[in-house]
Amino acid sequence: MKKSMQKAINDQINAELYSSYLYLSMSAWCFSRDLNGMGSWFKVQAQEELIHVGKFFSYVLDRDGKVELQKIDGPPTEWSGPLAAFEGALEHERKITSKINKIVDLAAKEGDHTTHTFLQWFVNEQIEEEATAKQIVGQLRLIGDNTSGLFLLDKELGTRVFTLPPAGAAA
Ligand code: FEO
Repeated sequence: MKKSMQKAINDQINAELYSSYLYLSMSAWCFSRDLNGMGSWFKVQAQEELIHVGKFFSYVLDRDGKVELQKIDGPPTEWSGPLAAFEGALEHERKITSKINKIVDLAAKEGDHTTHTFLQWFVNEQIEEEATAKQIVGQLRLIGDNTSGLFLLDKELGTRVFTLPPAGAAA
């Protein structure tokens, strides 16, 4: 693996770790406001980000590269409400999609077909990541100040569970 690609993926490992940190912070904020379903949803999201970290981590090692972990920035700790938190999540996922696309561009430029193929899982994953956040933002906008609606959505989001990907699942 070229050094330029190794650096790009190490930077992405950092971005995915930050994603986990951000969602854990959003989770804490929701739990502290008794929005336990949303708190649980964000906690699952934080766990999923660690799966993304693991995929990049293993890929670098499999290609005989060097994993170089970097400092993780502190995430925000306050939001004006659940809508602002989920809007923040959507905005963040759009940034992550753009970062993934830039690595895909680099892989194409360098003729690194292996990395290009590896990245397709993330390209597809980002469709779901953005769509899910966008849907929840839309529902929260519909709910507005309706506390019964918020209560029901919180309950529904609390049903999300974290599932480990099957052993040996394609990276
Ligand atoms: Fe790792 Fe939410 O993208």
